[in-house]
Amino acid sequence: MSHDAVPGPLDDALRRHTDYGAERLEEEDVATDPIAQFTAWMAEAAERGVYEPNAMVLGTIDPDGHPSIRTVLLRGVDERGFEFYTDHTSRKGRALLANPAVSVVFPWYTLHRQVIIVGEAHPVEREASEDYFARRPRGAQIAAWSSDQSQPISSREALEQKVRDAEERFRDDETVPRPERWGGFRIVPHRVEFWQGRTSRLHDRLVFRVAVGGGWELERIQP
Ligand SMILES: Cc1cc2nc3c(=O)[nH]c(=O)nc-3n(C[C@H](O)[C@H](O)[C@H](O)COP(=O)(O)O)c2cc1C
Repeated sequence: MSHDAVPGPLDDALRRHTDYGAERLEEEDVATDPIAQFTAWMAEAAERGVYEPNAMVLGTIDPDGHPSIRTVLLRGVDERGFEFYTDHTSRKGRALLANPAVSVVFPWYTLHRQVIIVGEAHPVEREASEDYFARRPRGAQIAAWSSDQSQPISSREALEQKVRDAEERFRDDETVPRPERWGGFRIVPHRVEFWQGRTSRLHDRLVFRVAVGGGWELERIQP
């Protein structure tokens, strides 16, 4: 649609120029490693009311070389990396098992911030997947059995039938076991960018990269 269309909410949204404000990100303000800096920003995002602050958009490369993206939830972060859970036979699961290269963005728009991670994702240890699956609500556990994620299905009714079948299968079991295909991936980062929006689009961008010989180096890049 042309930008000269009749004024309205769509046109307003396309033309709006929001001032990203006065917050700043200086070299002396960031932690010495990106995990500590991420943890601080993530806590702040939660505290300042960002909706689903652990939602991240995950980009992978399909076996045919095309990129594909989707939102997943971060479920753990420590010095080993960033953990999320999914079906390993889904589109993203198959992509990652063939090519572990990933990029992720945490889009914290209301804070005028984003964090962009590049790295490699590998399956987490079996026990980590078992532990996490066991802590999920029963409904989500049944759903994991009922959905071959990313595969076609003939109708909603067919999906709901798969749910009834799974409920029946585990009716007498106190706990629902983890489907073998369901579990975690951990992203080991090699580049992490912290982006803070500034006035007139002169944003702050500080990038951590794995240094030759280990550790992290920090670099400012242009907005
Ligand atoms: C806010 C939000 C959170 C989501 N979290 C997850 C998640 O943690 N794991 C997951 O497998 N899918 C999650 N999804 C669904 C995915 O975006 C996606 O539809 C699904 O994983 C299938 O992706 P794929 O076909 O590319 O593999 C989430 C979607 C939204 C909107």
